[in-house]
Amino acid sequence: MGLYPYADKYPVTRCFPQLGRPREEILAEIVEMAQLEDSPYHEGKISGSIYSGDEEHYEFLNEVFGHYSHANVIQRDMYPSATRFEGEIIAMAADMLHGDAVPGGTVCGVLTSGGTESLMNPLLVYREWGRERGITAPNLVMPVTAHPGLIKGAHYFGIEVRHAAVTDQFVADMDSVRSLVDENTVALAGSAGSYPHGLVDPIDQLSDLALERGINLHVDGCLGGFILAWGNDLGYDVPVFDFRLPGVTSISADTHKYGFGLKGSSVLLYRSPELRRRQYFIVPDWPGGAYTSPGMSGSRSGGIIAAAWASMVSLGREGYLAIAGDIFRTAAEIRDAIRSFPELRVLGEPWFNVAFTTTDDSGLDIFLVNDFMASRRWRLNGLQKPSAVHFCVTRPNTQPGVVDLFRSDLADAVEHAKANRGTRARSGAMYAGGMTTEQVESGVAWWLDATQALPPA
Ligand SMILES: Cc1ncc(COP(=O)(O)O)c(C=O)c1O
Repeated sequence: MGLYPYADKYPVTRCFPQLGRPREEILAEIVEMAQLEDSPYHEGKISGSIYSGDEEHYEFLNEVFGHYSHANVIQRDMYPSATRFEGEIIAMAADMLHGDAVPGGTVCGVLTSGGTESLMNPLLVYREWGRERGITAPNLVMPVTAHPGLIKGAHYFGIEVRHAAVTDQFVADMDSVRSLVDENTVALAGSAGSYPHGLVDPIDQLSDLALERGINLHVDGCLGGFILAWGNDLGYDVPVFDFRLPGVTSISADTHKYGFGLKGSSVLLYRSPELRRRQYFIVPDWPGGAYTSPGMSGSRSGGIIAAAWASMVSLGREGYLAIAGDIFRTAAEIRDAIRSFPELRVLGEPWFNVAFTTTDDSGLDIFLVNDFMASRRWRLNGLQKPSAVHFCVTRPNTQPGVVDLFRSDLADAVEHAKANRGTRARSGAMYAGGMTTEQVESGVAWWLDATQALPPA
């Protein structure tokens, strides 16, 4: 594939076509590209990204989506069903995350377009909360492992980010967190679990600190919320990270990840409507009519909301528990497989997202290990500080045979790293944009300026 994807295969559209193309021709292209691009996940070799992978589930959600894909839920009166879906998604998520522990049952929420929006909205709320208390230079204290969506939100809303260190177990170091909090701190944030290592920060201690200081605490459960929530019921010792902790003021949990919905939805819960009201945006005197919106988006597709709701009510607790059971078990097997190699080291004690690197003694480059895994079609995610990779286990990875294949390919990958000591690895620590340094440098997987990537006519 060249610099501009598919230029070698399909006509490149360089300007607005005068005449439309036949639907069948367009669909044929779509089907071909989608099938090609989806093929690795069917083999169970992709970390994260595709969370359900159940074709029948997707087919059902796509049918649901189709009924509302054109519906704009900003027009609340036209689509009251969307209000029903949204309310019930929030109620189910609040139930899952023990909203019942909050006196008065005040836990409430909003549906957003994804994890990043669910991280940005509470930052706006906490900045406003701070302003009401005379804080003009607000800061947010969180461990270095917290998701960049929080850094983005802080950047947009003029909040200083104070990065706390993590312990040798890769969770927030509470001494470091405590040392960074001052009278301008409007909120703390912690992850359950973190993107890099899948680990849960000491949310109980963050909660205590938030209460002690009278400030807010956001728990980023975007990745882990919908999987870790089932851990205790399955017999795993996952620490409490939800509304049972009195200092937790908001939690994000993505329906488009382990909620198994379609891409484009996430739940953001607040401890009370009193907090949530600060994210509502209202312009009462606008010539176009009194404008009200619950968050950053204006128009929103009813299809995505309906699909998130349909995912939750069709699976029910039993359905989520069954899939989560497979994921926890597979992740433990992956973790043990990695630990069986003296050259490799697992970071922390993960439940679903297993990060690992090479031992100092081995002197091996983890990205050479990853290069080899990539050559066998595995797509692990590269990390830095320290250099590592993670395997975020999802439902497609729980298929029989995947762990055995992973173990045997990893054995060859370690040998590859030994045989190629000192050579430059192709893969690196890349989150968005691509997998290998080569892909990013060549622009194949890059998106920053796609139009400039159009090949010469
Ligand atoms: C812990 C965590 N928080 C937030 C996000 C951001 O979610 P999104 O990519 O849906 O915006 C992610 C994405 O992987 C994540 O892992």
